[in-house]
Amino acid sequence: MQLERILQKHGFGTRKECRGLIRRERVAINGEICDDPFAEIDIEGLVFTVDGVDWPYLEFATLMLHKPVHYECSRKPKHHPGVLELLPVQLRERDVQPIGRLDEDTTGLLLITNDGQLNHQLSSAKRKVPKVYLATTKHPVDQAQIDQLLAGVLLADEYEPIAAAAAEIAGENLLRLTLTEGKYHQVKRMVAAVSNRVEALHRESVGELSLPVDLQPGEWRWLTAVDQQKLGYLP
Ligand code: URA
Repeated sequence: MQLERILQKHGFGTRKECRGLIRRERVAINGEICDDPFAEIDIEGLVFTVDGVDWPYLEFATLMLHKPVHYECSRKPKHHPGVLELLPVQLRERDVQPIGRLDEDTTGLLLITNDGQLNHQLSSAKRKVPKVYLATTKHPVDQAQIDQLLAGVLLADEYEPIAAAAAEIAGENLLRLTLTEGKYHQVKRMVAAVSNRVEALHRESVGELSLPVDLQPGEWRWLTAVDQQKLGYLP
């Protein structure tokens, strides 16, 4: 594929802008500057470099973000900056979107992609992808609350009780809850239904994929093929 086209596909601007970057010797392939916008490059396993930053050639941009507090997941954030502002402009140019949403005050694992099929599969209620949350609660968590959460609680606007797939006491004021749905404020509403209250909420994992311990709030990382397998994603 022509180098100019590769850059354009990866969010580096119009063809003309990409050509400019290449001609100004800001792009390297395998460590060597390439100033020919029309050079034919093998995309298999390609990593190209722009201004010293490495970019893997990826048909779709899929990544994980450690969402910090005070960022919104909605397309049009109202009261806080949007999570996409934590990403390089090239990714925003590729029209990536969060898979599902975390509340403004929730932290933890957020998946972001422009792969419509992946987004659809992981968001689909039918697939029941488990998501594990750690909630800090106002009151101590007791076994009666755990039993209720596992048996199912009726939330306002719902017709049937919703049960946690798993629930455990993780500390005096800590509750670990696994949910397979993604309803609005679901953890907070379920915890409120058992007469407790969520004071802080963190998502630890989605499917078999956990938030890496070395990924700091606000940091992101590409999702590898192994990570995608852990999500049970079958393209
Ligand atoms: N449940 C909530 O209440 N909030 C979240 O952000 C995610 C799940």
